[in-house]
Amino acid sequence: MEAVVRVVDSGRFILGPEVEGLEAAIAAYCGTRYAVGCASGTDALYLALRAAGVQPGDKVVTTPFTFFATAGAISRAGAVPVFVDIDPRTFNLNPELVAPALRSAGSARAVIPVHLYGGSADMDPILAAARAHGSAVIEDAAQAIGAEYKGRRCGGLGDIGCISFFPSKNLGGLGEGGMVTTGDLSLRNMAALLRVHGSRDKYRHELIGVNSRLDAMQAAALLVKLRHLDAWTARRQENAAIYRECLAGRTPFALPSPAPYQTRHVFNQFVIRSPRRDPLRDYLAKKGIGSEVYYPIPLHLQPCYAGLGYREGDFPESERAAREALALPIHQALTRDEIETVSQAILEFHG
Ligand SMILES: Cc1ncc(COP(=O)(O)O)c(C=O)c1O
Repeated sequence: MEAVVRVVDSGRFILGPEVEGLEAAIAAYCGTRYAVGCASGTDALYLALRAAGVQPGDKVVTTPFTFFATAGAISRAGAVPVFVDIDPRTFNLNPELVAPALRSAGSARAVIPVHLYGGSADMDPILAAARAHGSAVIEDAAQAIGAEYKGRRCGGLGDIGCISFFPSKNLGGLGEGGMVTTGDLSLRNMAALLRVHGSRDKYRHELIGVNSRLDAMQAAALLVKLRHLDAWTARRQENAAIYRECLAGRTPFALPSPAPYQTRHVFNQFVIRSPRRDPLRDYLAKKGIGSEVYYPIPLHLQPCYAGLGYREGDFPESERAAREALALPIHQALTRDEIETVSQAILEFHG
């Protein structure tokens, strides 16, 4: 509340010192040199694509098993998403399929691995394949602030990272917000220029950009919340461990198990796979237990992408994940008792 009042009293509601303070803090947190605050994670992706030089008609390789914004931003930049199936263990881009996809795409200006649910994608082979084809790597780290790949922070592994401060994220604001992270000054400058209608000097426009500035109120609140983020992450990890204690070996489905390279999984979501997902979800709902399906329709089967020519069966692992994935409550405020109650209900359902 003090931070919010400080912004109200300042009368400076857009960008300014609060946003610059958050940019420096998030850059430090992600292990990058620079960060650029913007209006949402969706816009962070759009600004990153434009800053990386993606032009209308370019191809961009990504996963079909992600939130719509990943592909939506590609299309908004005028480019064409080229989908590649996921690794069923991590739900992230299958790195073995990236190089062949880049080869058959002819050339792709960028690759967007998504660190879904708070666990990193397998970045080394993805980076190697992208480098070999001259493609930029833009990390969709919307769900993965603080997550680590082989000890290094997501958002600082590729050329540009994209963070979301949507309220349900581990670092959530009081509304919308996002950030681009990068170690490259020219990418930083391009993203900063594009977020203010491509204008460095007032009313002179070098590029056709957008209005995607971060509000000072969001930055002020996020700076306060950032101080708690590591403790909250530890609580989410504890909750994941309690689920494992209660459920491991006692359910017909496997529990999420981070891959060895996912050295810090931040559990934005705790996602189980159940072949009887929908009846299980209904059973939990009847007991007053919320759960969610991220995501029921893979992007290659979305009505708006019918024109891309994909068909059911093209990405079997993404399609299976869309049928089986169920996110259980994992929020840092949940208690051991509550996690045990959810686990008990799951065990009852499976008899
Ligand atoms: C994987 C992924 N990408 C992009 C976004 C877009 O972020 P925002 O909602 O802040 O626009 C989200 C979050 O909603 C997301 O989960």
